[in-house]
Amino acid sequence: MTGFSADWLALREPFDVRARNASVLDAVVASLVKLPSVRIVDLACGTGSTLRALSGRLPARQNWKLIDNDLGLLGRATAARHSGDMVITGIPLDLNRDLEAALDGPVDLVTTSALLDLVSEAWLERLAVEIAARKIPFYAALNYSGTVDLTPRDQHDAAVIAAINAHQRTDKGFGPALGPAAADAAVSRFEALGYSVTHGRSDWVIGPQDRDMQNEILAGWAHAVREFDALTLSDTAAWLTQRRDLVSSGQSSLRVGHVDVFAMPMGTR
Ligand SMILES: C[S@@+](CC[C@H](N)C(=O)[O-])C[C@H]1O[C@@H](n2cnc3c(N)ncnc32)[C@H](O)[C@@H]1O
Repeated sequence: MTGFSADWLALREPFDVRARNASVLDAVVASLVKLPSVRIVDLACGTGSTLRALSGRLPARQNWKLIDNDLGLLGRATAARHSGDMVITGIPLDLNRDLEAALDGPVDLVTTSALLDLVSEAWLERLAVEIAARKIPFYAALNYSGTVDLTPRDQHDAAVIAAINAHQRTDKGFGPALGPAAADAAVSRFEALGYSVTHGRSDWVIGPQDRDMQNEILAGWAHAVREFDALTLSDTAAWLTQRRDLVSSGQSSLRVGHVDVFAMPMGTR
């Protein structure tokens, strides 16, 4: 599975759904629930996981603009059938180049999930300024926080976690990525722009029975270790083999830290 493949997004979606912070989600819903209809822009929608997570809790009349630069993912996001009160439009855009076009027109909420850790500080600043200029609420879920717990522990885990976090900061098409700093940066930028910000943890909790998810994550982490030469090849192979054995025997669990953020312009509703 590659970085943003549909298979990977499908594998992670149930963990994302369980992880979404309930208080943050409640605050998002409370901000919209009295509107007769809502217009939402979802940035970097993938196959539409935010739409699926949110739509059932919002007023029936919804207009979603789903934005992504991957046409395959966008096609899947817009293919699903929804009630007649929902209008869903897929818009292919490169958000690094055409962010402002994504925010065109009247919008009640901008959402995103698993995006902010991929973007640079400069792009986040641009996003925050554009959203604040339009006084739109902003919900950014599932921002990787840099905290990883592996159970049971292994002597090489610290080197692996350092490599993951170094990899998180590499350029993903928006300049040097914020990685684990994304949620804190979003909170402080929106507060500085006069927003009231709610945030809370949304960790993936991956149990012994979640073998496919664990194996997929471990393979990605081993790749990051090699990219940063954080362990020798033989130590990386030994670490991965030992971890996979623990997964197969149902003795391994992972917790991967995330943070959800909801920013509401003060004094608007
Ligand atoms: C980690 S996935 C998250 C997808 C979805 N929001 C979710 O939570 O399942 C990141 C998404 O960002 C999209 N993406 C990455 N770079 C982009 C860019 N420059 N413009 C638009 N979308 C981009 C990818 O295609 C992918 O769908």
